Amino acid sequence: MEASDYAKLGIKAVRNVAISAWKPALIFTKAKGSTIWLNDKPYLDFASGPGVSNIGYNHPAVLNAVKEVLDNDEAGWSGNMYLNKYQVMLAEKLSAITPGKYDKQVFFSNSGGEAVEAAILACLKARPERRGMVTFAGDFHGRLGFCRTATSSKPLHVEGLNGGINRAFYLIFPSENPETMAKKEFLDCIQTSRQYLRYVQSSIGPFIKEINFALLELVQGEGGINVAKKRMMQVLIQYLHENQVTVIIDEVQTGLGRTGHMWASDFYEVEPDIMTVAKALSGGVIPIGATIFRSGFGYRKRAEHCNTFGGYPQACAAGLKSLEIVESENLAQASHEMGLVLRGGLWEARSNSLKAQELVSDISGLGLMSRMTFTDAKTRDKVVEEAMNRGLLLMSTGEQSTRLMPPLIITYDEIKKATEILMKAIETHS
Ligand SMILES: Cc1ncc(COP(=O)(O)O)c(C=O)c1O
Repeated sequence: MEASDYAKLGIKAVRNVAISAWKPALIFTKAKGSTIWLNDKPYLDFASGPGVSNIGYNHPAVLNAVKEVLDNDEAGWSGNMYLNKYQVMLAEKLSAITPGKYDKQVFFSNSGGEAVEAAILACLKARPERRGMVTFAGDFHGRLGFCRTATSSKPLHVEGLNGGINRAFYLIFPSENPETMAKKEFLDCIQTSRQYLRYVQSSIGPFIKEINFALLELVQGEGGINVAKKRMMQVLIQYLHENQVTVIIDEVQTGLGRTGHMWASDFYEVEPDIMTVAKALSGGVIPIGATIFRSGFGYRKRAEHCNTFGGYPQACAAGLKSLEIVESENLAQASHEMGLVLRGGLWEARSNSLKAQELVSDISGLGLMSRMTFTDAKTRDKVVEEAMNRGLLLMSTGEQSTRLMPPLIITYDEIKKATEILMKAIETHS
């Protein structure tokens, strides 16, 4: 980006921002509904953050809810030392609408990673004698986990942690849409849920008494939009429960209607002991994270876990309003229907294009958590870039796929437009 382009946006250059953004030359300038503006150019957004803007960007009702808190001078104190009414109401709402008809308690934080960290902490503190963890190869759960080691201000912060996790087991994700031929060939060896259970038993069975918790994605987001086989996921979770392994389901990306169900756990008909939510929970307007504990799986002592901004009134007010919108606008159902429309339209467009048949190996997903897979990563990257040049924002995932994750309010016309752009981007690939 030239200096004059930056000047138009009222900034000089970006050299003081840490190297982190994938595309530093693109500056976010505005967003509304399903459209996002980068360098003042509008893009139809098929990335959603990923999974943040489920109700559409800057939903007026969410903005109003936040404004009301500000107008009433109710901002300024988080929910950790003292509670605030928005936090209490959001905790009650989340407890009521998450899977499982049992009592729950909610811990608030500011991000998905923090929500997961809060879950792991509770598990380790509850059963310090078990320090093993199970997860799936290819899962993504965040980027935290060092600073507590440097915290020694009070014994409470480290009590019972015994140095944390001492063993990690990475199970094969039982994907029904393996992204690459290599993964497909590998998974072909495990055809039935019985075989999967045997595999699980042989992998972690000998260590099961050492394993404290399992941290699982039901549909892998960053790992390639891999949708688990339902029955295999169920037998795994049943086995874990039978062996007193605490089951944490990470719904940071899959939650709030994204998969065509309020929670992916609803589709899989599984009940977590602990569930993590973030991203879309506050309508993309304010950071938030929430860890929802089945009673008995949370913290045992006051202040056992805490953070500065968790439970912030604006974030929780935004959360309450966003949940109301997801429910009242039937966005989970919309996600289910539009996911079918999107994938159906793309398969059809592929069948009419020799180039697409040559380059696109798969289109799959659950609800509007979908992906298109290419023959290799280089092709994927070029198509994503070409689609962006034509006004469609995409985000890569897995080894050679792009996410197709628009806001859940996406219309038929917008899906048609995105399909046309994507197909043009594929057609122009040389
Ligand atoms: C499933 C899942 N868990 C956790 C996280 C971490 O969330 P955050 O980036 O807000 O820390 C992500 C982020 O993409 C995610 O997809």
